[in-house]
Amino acid sequence: MKKKALVLIHGFPFDSSMWDEQKAFLKNFCDVHAPDLPGFGESKISACSSIEDFAKFIKQYVEEEKLGRVILCGFSMGGYIAFAFYEMFPQFVEALIFADTRAKDDSPEGKKGRDLAIRKAEIYGTDFFFENMPEKLLSKENLENDLILSKVKSIISKQKKESIINALIAMRERKDRSFLLQKIDIPSLFICGEKDILSTPEEMREMSEAVKNSRFEIVKDAGHLSNIENSSQFNTILLDFLK
Ligand code: MLT
Repeated sequence: MKKKALVLIHGFPFDSSMWDEQKAFLKNFCDVHAPDLPGFGESKISACSSIEDFAKFIKQYVEEEKLGRVILCGFSMGGYIAFAFYEMFPQFVEALIFADTRAKDDSPEGKKGRDLAIRKAEIYGTDFFFENMPEKLLSKENLENDLILSKVKSIISKQKKESIINALIAMRERKDRSFLLQKIDIPSLFICGEKDILSTPEEMREMSEAVKNSRFEIVKDAGHLSNIENSSQFNTILLDFLK
């Protein structure tokens, strides 16, 4: 029997290698795909400066790989892209998984934060994010875990300044897609790190409650990067949902 296709969309400022643990664990159960978004990782094209363009890239990928209807899993910025994809191309989606993300757009303060981050990127390049992002992404405990910290820093260090700037513009300009929550009529799962301060468990539980028959799961001992910080629980949650 043909395995189900699972498409994993990475977050910011990362690339597909953030999904290494999920790819290794899930490959026996489904047909796992984790493309590098334009501008990130091994991608040879420029980063998009809108979430819709990132979603169009995923649609092109799904068509080129002849995946048919897919299970779409987006982490954080990847979640923003998954929401846009579902709005634009619902016929390609069989189920949705949202990890540590939100449906809403940036608040006015959030937009100011993006402007500041863009200025920092222009002045200091990737180094600024390499130095400053881990403390927002990881729980206090995992910030002291050398293995996790070095994996996170190593992925960030590989990303290009121009791609970081474009993705920040894309996130700043993204629209509020909370209206979609009431429209989702396919199986859906919301996953959140217990200690995520960027997209909190409360916020994610609320989103899940707005969706018919959706599932909400908390990943213990993890901050925002729940799939890296506690990959074994994250993988088990995914597998349970995929069965
Ligand atoms: C991410 O992890 O993709 C980013 O933190 C998302 C964001 O900055 O809104």
